[in-house]
Amino acid sequence: MKDETDKDSIIRLFHVCKRYGTRNAIVDLSLDIFRNELLFISGPSGAGKTTLLKLMYLAESATEGQILIDGINLSRIPRNRIPYLRRKFGIVFQDYKLIRTKSVYENVALSLEVTGSKQKHIQKKVKSVLRTVGMENRLNSFPPGLSGGEQQRVAVARAVVGEPAIIVADEPTGNLDIEAADIILNLLKKFHSQGATVIIATHDMELINRTGGRVIYLKDGRLVKDAHHPLME
Ligand SMILES: Nc1ncnc2c1ncn2[C@@H]1O[C@H](COP(=O)(O)OP(=O)(O)O)[C@@H](O)[C@H]1O
Ligand SMILES: [Mg+2]
Repeated sequence: MKDETDKDSIIRLFHVCKRYGTRNAIVDLSLDIFRNELLFISGPSGAGKTTLLKLMYLAESATEGQILIDGINLSRIPRNRIPYLRRKFGIVFQDYKLIRTKSVYENVALSLEVTGSKQKHIQKKVKSVLRTVGMENRLNSFPPGLSGGEQQRVAVARAVVGEPAIIVADEPTGNLDIEAADIILNLLKKFHSQGATVIIATHDMELINRTGGRVIYLKDGRLVKDAHHPLME
């Protein structure tokens, strides 16, 4: 018999606050995210979704409270362990953030080069992941020559090529039409089904309705609801 307490948390927040000056972006937020969970973070613009993600992937530090990533307390680690922890995350942004002057291949390869992988391994991995996202025919294209949906597919490839345990996506479909959005969502679901923990921030309830799953709602930096959303057919 497994119950809630047996679930393995990959991210834990205890009474986390994040202030920017006097502005409270996150207020007394406690949350457990389980290994291999697909979690949506929802709520209106300004609710704190991006801030919450940044706290998790170590782009911001909490003003108060504790955050544990894979059992490691972020407030108690030396700074030199931070890059190692960041490698647990693959991150997808609303505006893709590809390097315009590098090819599709190079944009994805860069993620592995910084880890010191061998060229042969890099080549194999990059081609394989670009095949998964359906961009294997555009290896030598540059981002400005791609549609938004194609750029986001490359960005997803870049996020997952290092096989991160956790994939974080901040409004990944915010700039896309519904068809391109569904392709991106289906890719994220595919990596989830292959074992990744996937966390998606979106204010788009339609997108969540098409997917179902656990949804937490933020309002004014507070967690106001944590629910399992049924898939609406
Ligand atoms: N770097 C920052 N400096 C000052 N205020 C910020 C900063 N980042 C976010 N905020 C504020 O924190 C609150 C939450 O913002 P954010 O996390 O971006 O919300 P969301 O992603 O849900 O739209 C907002 O009031 C926003 O103005
Ligand atoms: Mg945001």
